[in-house]
Amino acid sequence: MSRLEPWLHRLLILAVIWLFATADWVRMANRIPSSASFWDWAHIVVGLLATVLTVAFTRHCCKAGQWRQYFPYLVGDLKPTLSDLTGLFRGRLPRAGGNGLLAFIEGIGLILMLAVAATGIGWLITQGSTDAMFWRKQHIFAASGLLGFLVVHALAGLISVVDLIRDA
Ligand code: HEM
Repeated sequence: MSRLEPWLHRLLILAVIWLFATADWVRMANRIPSSASFWDWAHIVVGLLATVLTVAFTRHCCKAGQWRQYFPYLVGDLKPTLSDLTGLFRGRLPRAGGNGLLAFIEGIGLILMLAVAATGIGWLITQGSTDAMFWRKQHIFAASGLLGFLVVHALAGLISVVDLIRDA
């Protein structure tokens, strides 16, 4: 990780927690309502900030060939991921860092974040038109996928803690 990456990651965590925690109060249908609430505007502002952070974070994760680690299927190198998976069924926790199942899961997270961000922007560009409802639907769909991912990612984060204790 470069020095910038942990900061990008922490800011992104804060923004995503805000967006999920306040999502129930956001009501925008196909346009920014003329009487938009604080929660509507906050979702737009924090959502845009999260979009910029997502793009910057993805760039950092992918530089110097690291993208191979997060998207191993693009280079046909699924061996470390599969061996982590089989190890998991035998009760062996995958190692954090480098190639393998954890990086594979993180790559899925990057794709989901990009999908939530892109569909949010899609809604913003088309808001006021009927197309906005299409983007809203895709955005909500991608956001529920992201929520599922965050649960798995948090569990995988615990593996890093187990690794630290094991190596201490
Ligand atoms: C990448 C950051 C973003 C995240 C994590 C995020 C997350 C969410 C979540 C969790 C929901 C509620 C889904 C549900 O009802 O189950 C939602 C709804 C929505 N988001 Fe985002 N969002 C992001 C960016 C954006 C952006 C940039 C925009 C547009 C400016 C946007 C516009 C909307 C709209 C229009 C809704 C539907 C609100 C309604 O119920 O009418 N989002 N978002």
